[in-house]
Amino acid sequence: VGVIGVEKEPAWVPESINLQLASAARIYDYFLGGAHNFAVDRDLARQILALVPGSALSAQANRAFLHRAVRYLVAQGVRQFIDIGSGIPTSGNVHEVAQQLDPGARVLYVDRDPIAVAHSETIIGDNPNVGVLQADLRRPKDILQAPELHDLIDPAEPVAVLMVAVLHFLAPGDRPEELIAQFHAAAAPGSYLVLSHGHSEKLHRSGNLDVLSPDDREVLNLYQQTSGGITLRSHAQIQQLFDGWALVEPGLVWVPQWRPGWPDEVGPDPASSSVVGGVARRI
Ligand SMILES: C[S@@+](CC[C@H](N)C(=O)[O-])C[C@H]1O[C@@H](n2cnc3c(N)ncnc32)[C@H](O)[C@@H]1O
Repeated sequence: VGVIGVEKEPAWVPESINLQLASAARIYDYFLGGAHNFAVDRDLARQILALVPGSALSAQANRAFLHRAVRYLVAQGVRQFIDIGSGIPTSGNVHEVAQQLDPGARVLYVDRDPIAVAHSETIIGDNPNVGVLQADLRRPKDILQAPELHDLIDPAEPVAVLMVAVLHFLAPGDRPEELIAQFHAAAAPGSYLVLSHGHSEKLHRSGNLDVLSPDDREVLNLYQQTSGGITLRSHAQIQQLFDGWALVEPGLVWVPQWRPGWPDEVGPDPASSSVVGGVARRI
C-alpha cells in the first residue's frame, strides 16, 4: 500500500535507489517517452521542458545520432561495442541496431545507474552476445578489467567505444581526456570512439553563467539537483577529447548533421539540439 506523498516502488526498483534524488538516466528516459522514471525525475524533467521545450527533441536527436553511428560502424566492419553510459534501455538499443545488421555483433552495456543496469539485464535475457556491467566511467580499470568485458570483447579485434551523452556528466576535475586515453590504449588498431556532448559556446567564451539566458541558466541549476550535475563544454574542448583519434567526415557537428539518413532528417535548426557528436578512428 502506498503512503500518501510517497511514491510506491514498482517491482523493478532495486533496493538501493533513493527515490528522492532525480537521476539523469531517468530524466533522459522520460524525454524519450520511457516508463522507467519516478515522480522526482518527472518533476524535474517537466520543469526543464517548461524552460527549454526542445529538450525532448534534443534527446531524440542524440539517440538518432547513436543509431546512425552504430550502423556506420557495422558497415566499417566493427563487430564489438562497449556502450558506456548506455542508459535505461529504450527503443533502438545498440545491440538491436547492430544485430539487425549482423546477429553476431557483441555489445557490453556499462552504466553507473542501478536502474539502467537492472533494466538492461531484463531486456538482454539470454542473448549470449550482450552483457551489462555496473561501473563508473571515472574508474576505467573497473570496466577494462571486468570479467564481463573479457567474456565478450576480444582485445585483438577493433572495438567501438561509445560515450554518447555521458561525458557532460563528468566534472572538469574528472579529467575526461585521461579517462578516454585509457580506452585508447586498450583498443586494437581500427577501433573507433563515438562521442556526443552537451555544448555551449557562449558559456565558454565568457566563462560566466550570466551570458546564458535566464531559462538556460535555470536548466543548468536544475541539472545540479540530479545525482551527477552537468558540465557543458565548448566545441574546442570537446574536439580535444578526440586526441589520438581521427574524426571521420563530417567531423564534430550538431548531432542532427552527422550523416543524416535523408536531407530532411537534419531539421531546420540543428543547433537547437545543443548536442554535438562525432565518430573517430583510432590513430
Ligand atoms: C543521457 S543518458 C545517455 C544514454 C545513451 N548513451 C544515449 O545516448 O542514448 C546518460 C547516461 O550516462 C550515465 N552516466 C553518467 N555518468 C556516468 C559515469 N560516470 N559512469 C557511467 N555512467 C554514467 C547515466 O547514468 C545515464 O544513464
